Formats: sequence, structure tokens, C-alpha cells
Amino acid sequence: MADYTIIDGKATAAAIKKEIAEEVGRMKAEGQRPPHLSAILVGHDGGSETYVKNKVLACEECGFTSSLHRYDDTITEEELLAEIDRLNKDPEVDGFIVQLPLPRHINEQKVTEAIDWRKDVDGFHPVNVGRMSIGLPGFRSATPDGIIELLSRYGIETRGKHAVVLGRSNIVGKPVASLLIQKGNPGDCTVTVCHSATKNIKEICREADIIVAALGHPGFVTADMVKPGAVIIDVGTTRVPDASRKSGFRLSGDVDFENVAPLCSFITPVPGGVGPMTICSLMKNTLLARKGSF
Ligand code: GUN
Repeated sequence: MADYTIIDGKATAAAIKKEIAEEVGRMKAEGQRPPHLSAILVGHDGGSETYVKNKVLACEECGFTSSLHRYDDTITEEELLAEIDRLNKDPEVDGFIVQLPLPRHINEQKVTEAIDWRKDVDGFHPVNVGRMSIGLPGFRSATPDGIIELLSRYGIETRGKHAVVLGRSNIVGKPVASLLIQKGNPGDCTVTVCHSATKNIKEICREADIIVAALGHPGFVTADMVKPGAVIIDVGTTRVPDASRKSGFRLSGDVDFENVAPLCSFITPVPGGVGPMTICSLMKNTLLARKGSF
């Protein structure tokens, strides 16, 4: 089958941000305060600086208020927890994130759990993770939510399909598996989660109607692992050196796109597939937080 659809995450993300901006426009016209997202950034990690900058820009696109709280990497855990407590109590802040990673002297889990789950627009707090896993409303974390949104917007039938999730991370593999088995659409899948100790990964993948590859292993999914007509969602974003790029690297997915794509019905590219959807999920969550949805 050579007639495959490339899932355009960039265009889908732009459409979602436009929908959010329209809703916020209506809120403002009615005299309501727009959603307000705060971000805490500790230290000067290059990747984190870029991510946070993009989040602030997305807020502007959506008509949100944003505020950035920057701290040197000498901030103590106690001081950071005090700042989180302040944002938890600030009625003008609907949701906030603490950009990860944090310096080694700060316990990330403790920080994550200190955030009021009703303001945890990253969806990392155990309450939000737990609510999602039992099908209650709450904030879903960005990557799994972005994947489900793409399946939904491309009208991909998931009911009764065998989905194989490659990778069992807390931020992608486990939550995406949990969402795919929920009742409803997208959902109602039979899910197999594969990881580093799984035997016969190739054989399992060949049985898959949907593969979600989230291993961080460039080109892991090869053509001999893909059933004709399968849907392929590539979550890999490994930086591989590339002297021809100004940045010195390019992003590589977990799928051998060139050889796998002609076999598929739908496939996400890297970059431009799942990646652009993640900031959208943060914007969606912030709008939900503003509306006091949970
Ligand atoms: N670091 C890398 N990705 C993320 C994310 O989605 N949220 C936060 N808070 N930190 C990150």
C-alpha cells in the first residue's frame, strides 16, 4: 500500500491554538479575565530556556497572560517549595509548570507533588495521573494527550484495534497505554506495552494495527516490523549530529520513516508530528484550569 497519509502535527497544532484563541477572544469580549499560565525556570539549561520561551509565545498566540519566574540554580529546595506554595494560592494564576530538569540538589518528585493538582497543567501530579488512569476528568500530560488528539482529529478508528506501545516511561508509554484502553473513541484498543525486557518485539509489532514508538532509539521500527495498513505514531526525538545543519544536529524519530511510510495508512513525521502537539495540550489544560473544570 503506497497511499499513506502523513499526520501533520504542525497544522493540527496551529488549528487548535486558533480555536483556543477564538474562545479566549469571546471570554475577553464578555469582560472575563483571560487564562494565566505561570512558569518557573531554574538555572540556564539551553533546552529548558527554549521550551519555556516557546510556551510563553504559545500563550501570546492563544491570548493568555503568562508570567515567567526565573531563579538561579543556587535556589534551595525550600525556597522553590515556598514559591510553589505562593503560586498555588495566587487566585490570578490558573495553572503553572516547573520546567524540568531541576538541579540535582532539588527533589523533582517532591516539587511535582507540591503543586496543587488543580493547577498542575503539566499533568504530572500523581492525582492527575491517577484520575486519568481511572477515566476521571483531570489534566492529561502533554505527549499522550497530543497523540490522542491526533488520532481523533484524523478520524482514525481505534475501537477493537491492537495497539502496541514501545516504551514504558511515566510520561509517554504508560499514560498512552492507559488512554488507549479507556472506553470510548479514541480508545477501546487492546494494548500491548513492550519494553527493554520484552521478548519477540518484532513479532508483536507485526501484529499491531497501531504502533506508538516512544523508546528514544532512532530508526528502531523497521519495515519488517510493520503490518500493511498500520498506523504509526513516532514519539522519538533523539538529537543526532548533523554537520549540514546550522544547529549541528537533527531530530531523529524511532521509526525508519522512509521504508516504513509506504506500508502504512497513517504515519507521523519527525519533526512536525507529535512534537508540535505538546505545547497545544498545555494551552488546552490552561484554558480548562481557567474554567475551573476539575
Ligand atoms: N521538560 C521537558 N518537557 C517538559 C514538560 O513537558 N514539562 C516540564 N515541566 N518540564 C519539561
